[in-house]
Amino acid sequence: MKADDLGASRPLVFPLYQTAVFTLPDLDALDRIYDEGAPGFIYARDAHPNAEALAAEIARRESARWAVVCGSGMSAITAAVLACVQSGDRILASNRLYGRTLTLLFQELSRFGVEAAVVDICDLDAVAHALERPTRLLIVETLSNPLLRVADVPGLADLCRRTECRLLVDNTFATPELFRPLEHGADLVVESLTKLMAGHSDVTLGVVSGNGDLEQTIRQTVSIWGLMGNPFDSWLAQRGLSTLSLRCRSACDNAANLADWLAKQHGILRVVYPGRAEHPDHELAKRLFQGHFGNMLCFELDGGREAVNAFLRRAIGIPFSPSLGHTHTTVSHPATTSHRYVSPAERRRQGITDGLLRLSVGFEPIEQIKAALAAGLGQ
Ligand SMILES: Cc1ncc(COP(=O)(O)O)c(C=O)c1O
Repeated sequence: MKADDLGASRPLVFPLYQTAVFTLPDLDALDRIYDEGAPGFIYARDAHPNAEALAAEIARRESARWAVVCGSGMSAITAAVLACVQSGDRILASNRLYGRTLTLLFQELSRFGVEAAVVDICDLDAVAHALERPTRLLIVETLSNPLLRVADVPGLADLCRRTECRLLVDNTFATPELFRPLEHGADLVVESLTKLMAGHSDVTLGVVSGNGDLEQTIRQTVSIWGLMGNPFDSWLAQRGLSTLSLRCRSACDNAANLADWLAKQHGILRVVYPGRAEHPDHELAKRLFQGHFGNMLCFELDGGREAVNAFLRRAIGIPFSPSLGHTHTTVSHPATTSHRYVSPAERRRQGITDGLLRLSVGFEPIEQIKAALAAGLGQ
């Protein structure tokens, strides 16, 4: 039997095309791909079947016309930003963005003459005021890290529409299961697929999606800056995505249950979860999200760093791991991981104390997570 002759058979699962380059029969076939947009692939840094299959699936979930897969969440953000700005342009960013995104704007792009400023996006008047200066791009996260403030994307999109400003939403903490920013007026949406979307902590990938005119510019940016994701990670992410709805729903249900349970335990000063009535954005989250409030929550231990160390040593069933979106529950400590290089004064201002822990809730049986948390709390 010839291995590449499938006859009438077709694979049920989209195959992995683990190749960096493709062959073509002649120059005419090559020209048709380059010049006429005929189907086909040439070089995997530009495009490859696994990235395209994944992108098509994500575009459907985001209500996007197109999506471009990139090698990480950061490369997706980089591609989106580079496609939107020129030297001399101004970017406005939420003051609660992921630290590396802020570094990209303030340390990297500033070297190329791009100006950046931050604003409290929970204050729409402050955003309107900041947009009085010509601004090319506003960057926000649907749910901020770690305190899960919710961006009023419809309100922000309204403000952007009155100017020349585009709205880019990093939807990593929400995923399209909770919220689809393009349906609420955003111009571009970015996801770190590394997290809940691929969902098994074995992939580093990102994606940028949209409906507007930027697809070709972003594809070119991805090719020239070398931002493309690789075939195997794309294949794994596509497999992970097929269970996203189930995983996300179970993890969100667990998170809501745990938030209420943690609030009743001794030694806990506060619980932060958008599904709880005391969260400052609870009403907004109810209005925007599709019935769930996410798989992320924070709680603050009485006793600061010492209490955190004791918790981590005792909570054997909950790995200390500074990422999110794994199958199982993991815990992180924002003050020494994601916000390690933020000044203590700024951390205090944001409410990121030494006793604050962030849980990425998984979909294992709830009693198993509670038992591990109870052990961590010394119960
Ligand atoms: C909200 C958010 N956006 C983007 C990223 C970057 O994603 P990646 O690590 O896939 O580059 C992260 C990573 O933690 C994140 O939390």
